[in-house]
Amino acid sequence: MVSYKELGLVNSREIFKKAFAGKYAIPAFNFNNMEQMQAIVQACVEENSPVILQVSSGARKYANQTLLRYMAQGAVEYAKELGNNIPIVLHLDHGDTFELCKSCIEMGFSSVMIDGSHHSYEENVELTAKVVEYAHKYDVTVEGELGVLAGIEDDVVAEHHTYTQPEEVKDFVSKTGVDSLAISIGTSHGANKFKPDQCTRNEQGILVPPPLRFDILEEIEKVIPGFPIVLHGSSSVPQEYVEIINANGGKLKDAIGIPEEELRRASKSAVCKINIDSDGRLAMTAAIRKTFNEHPEWFDPRQYLGPAREELKKLYKHKCVSVLGSAGHAND
Ligand code: G3H
Ligand code: 13P
Ligand code: ZN
Repeated sequence: MVSYKELGLVNSREIFKKAFAGKYAIPAFNFNNMEQMQAIVQACVEENSPVILQVSSGARKYANQTLLRYMAQGAVEYAKELGNNIPIVLHLDHGDTFELCKSCIEMGFSSVMIDGSHHSYEENVELTAKVVEYAHKYDVTVEGELGVLAGIEDDVVAEHHTYTQPEEVKDFVSKTGVDSLAISIGTSHGANKFKPDQCTRNEQGILVPPPLRFDILEEIEKVIPGFPIVLHGSSSVPQEYVEIINANGGKLKDAIGIPEEELRRASKSAVCKINIDSDGRLAMTAAIRKTFNEHPEWFDPRQYLGPAREELKKLYKHKCVSVLGSAGHAND
């Protein structure tokens, strides 16, 4: 058993309190490899932002849990070396079993998500409470989820959103003891969050998706005042990346994300954590495809992973400064 505290990581409790009071959201960026991790740390150090490094169960399988854990430990040391000891959380994204959460806690994670949203309400309560009871012994914070996002969530595909029911929220939070709650108000995972026929066109001819259900968020804020809320599926799917990908041999169709303006609004509310994975995938793929196209003679991975890392860093900085508002808040 290794405690995250020995690794220099923090749990999410204090940073969420500060984010709530300061009306900003903490970025939760997924990572699977070194370049993504370097870009996240460099961006957040330079922008003086707290950060949540997220590992999905797919990432654990892909990269190996021991390696990822040492990379997160390395992230803390790297941030110090860069001259800014920002708060870093190592978080399990979409944990689906008690055993997985327990194993991550024993490995040095400072925060876990137990996603029981595909179970019945009663089973979700029971599973989440069990994880909380274990995690809190080690001062590890726990995120639960109520409501189901449309699209693919892990291996489960939901055709429509099941929005979070504000009536259930208070009971869920008090019965489980969770530290934060992921809700469903219209976001979804991946790069195809809306079908074009669900969208309208603005004066510039740009597709505008249906708005998030801020009315539900407001109801939730009323029943659990001051409680940290989490938004999954919050990539904006920048169209410039989609265009670069498609201009360089890619085939992305109908890729539509959450408008940044909605995320800015959410960041000022009880939403204290915003999950972003797909935008990083798009930035990286766009940069790599462009380099391949422009320099077919290159074959040193650093020649294409280097520009990809730079593009990622630019994206993460933009999120901290201009969308979530977390820049400048590492030492609140
Ligand atoms: O919510 C899911 C995250 O985007 C992680 O995706 O399971 O493909 O690593 P993944
Ligand atoms: P995106 O697919 O919108 O980036 O969402 C990521 C996420 O919610 C990770 O849990
Ligand atoms: Zn998610």
